[in-house]
Amino acid sequence: MDSLKDELNEDSYYIDLITRLRKERNAVILAHNYQRGEVQDIADYVGDSLGLSQQAAKTDADIIVFCGVFFMAETAAILSPQKTVIIPDPRAGCPMADMITAEDLRQKKQEHPEATVVCYVNSSADVKAESDICCTSTNAIQVVESLKDAKEILFVPDEHLGRFVASRTKADILFWPGFCPTHLRVTPEDIIKAREEHPNAKCIVHPECSIEVIMLADEALSTGGIIKYVGKSDAGEIIIGTELGLAYRLQKDHPHKRFYLATQKLVCPNMKLTTLEKVAAALENIQHVVKVPENIRVRAKLALDRMMEI
Ligand code: 13P
Ligand code: SF4
Repeated sequence: MDSLKDELNEDSYYIDLITRLRKERNAVILAHNYQRGEVQDIADYVGDSLGLSQQAAKTDADIIVFCGVFFMAETAAILSPQKTVIIPDPRAGCPMADMITAEDLRQKKQEHPEATVVCYVNSSADVKAESDICCTSTNAIQVVESLKDAKEILFVPDEHLGRFVASRTKADILFWPGFCPTHLRVTPEDIIKAREEHPNAKCIVHPECSIEVIMLADEALSTGGIIKYVGKSDAGEIIIGTELGLAYRLQKDHPHKRFYLATQKLVCPNMKLTTLEKVAAALENIQHVVKVPENIRVRAKLALDRMMEI
């Protein structure tokens, strides 16, 4: 097997293996927009957190290979309990999701018994189970606006997405001090410099960036929102304030447009852990199955279902 691998270009060896195994196993490969280019290229669906959850909920494949970070695969396991969900590298976590535990949230709820808990999907199943409703960066504003009767809202774990939502709604929001280390690497100075270097470019950032960065951009959108924006916009040059993997997708879809990363530091190391070799190994051995205990899954699914209804 190794000699064949050596003879062929390594990527094509794994692509052939994945193509064969996905058919044999009746598997679907879902990939987030931040995945490596070669992983995006072999996926059946590439999208943002909301799109991936929707795909996971409706697929009729037996196996979901989730190329993303752990909370995303866990969300697929919550929504599709009858499927086998596998993650090619189980070390691919999201530091933001680890910034709050279910116990932390229970304590905070005791301090604010009247608060409605809105939980960003970048969180563990345990935390979702303690929450009233989930949101993604695509629908966070609509989710908060839907809670017309809420006296106050406790938004966890991303303080920055929470502040962005607060700036666009009239809701009274309490924040949790969580953050994305990758998106906080973009500074206001980076945006000012990029705009000086590319004066004709539009600038679109992710709402996990700081509010100071968002205020200097033309818009803050989820990765799926950025893809739609670029598809509709006449702009030929766009400064991107989100993870590098999205620029791969945008450049592939729009070869005549120019994309500039706001800073070269926009790399999520966890998203880059997934490789073609690990996807092939996960499929071959059906390894790294993601499971959620049923009592947690049922409660977490309620919070996700409320979001999906919006
Ligand atoms: P999107 O839902 O916008 O793809 O964001 C996911 C994420 O983890 C951003 O850091
Ligand atoms: Fe988590 Fe940030 Fe990576 Fe998204 S980019 S998975 S929020 S660490």
